[in-house]
Amino acid sequence: MRWWPASRRTGRRGAMPELEALKKEAALRAVTLVESGMRVGLGTGSTAKYAIEAIGERLASGDVRNVVGVATSDVSEALAREVGIPVEPLDPRPLDIAIDGADEIDPELNLIKGLGGALLREKLTEVQARRLVIIADHTKVVARLGEKAPVPVEIARFGFLSTIERLREVVPGGRLRQPGAQPYVTDNGNYIYDAQLPAQFGPAELERQLKGTLGVVETGFFLGMAEVAFVAAPEGVRELR
Ligand code: 5RP
Repeated sequence: MRWWPASRRTGRRGAMPELEALKKEAALRAVTLVESGMRVGLGTGSTAKYAIEAIGERLASGDVRNVVGVATSDVSEALAREVGIPVEPLDPRPLDIAIDGADEIDPELNLIKGLGGALLREKLTEVQARRLVIIADHTKVVARLGEKAPVPVEIARFGFLSTIERLREVVPGGRLRQPGAQPYVTDNGNYIYDAQLPAQFGPAELERQLKGTLGVVETGFFLGMAEVAFVAAPEGVRELR
């Protein structure tokens, strides 16, 4: 574990609420890894947003050149274009780096992602990155996955009630994500089932069972994918590997 010295952090926090300031600090630390000519996976969420903005600023100032982004959601793509990052679709070439947030980070850097709804494009993109760099505030670090967050499971809309019945045989607790009158629809036109994790489970085995359930498109378990996490706390940015 390494610390990013406070003197090199963002300094004044102004009126930004504490957690937002921490997310930004983690993002700024990760963006120092972006170099000219890189193809960069652009994550999704309130923390990844700071990274996208910072990459845009580095391009605008000429600090880096010819950086191209591959976005993990429509929202991140729109933001990237707005801040001047050229965006390309995902193709089979590897990405130099991907920078993204997470909902939970365990001591082995296994992750739960997808509370922001972008898990499928995030996984498709980040599995092709030579380095997956996670950025988060300290509230995302847990001793075991499932401590605070459900695992989001993206499911096909067609026959979703039947898929949910099958999912309940694997993980009894959970619910279809439905923020209003209608279910939440992902950028891929699917629904999300937020599965409550049991007290004891093996993430790899549960991932295998969920992925083997008919109607499941992808899960929010990102196991063994992250190389490093920059976790910002009031004392500084910790580097977890
Ligand atoms: C979106 C994600 C996000 O990275 C995750 O939800 C963290 O978001 P935030 O930085 O807003 O807490 O996985 O699908």
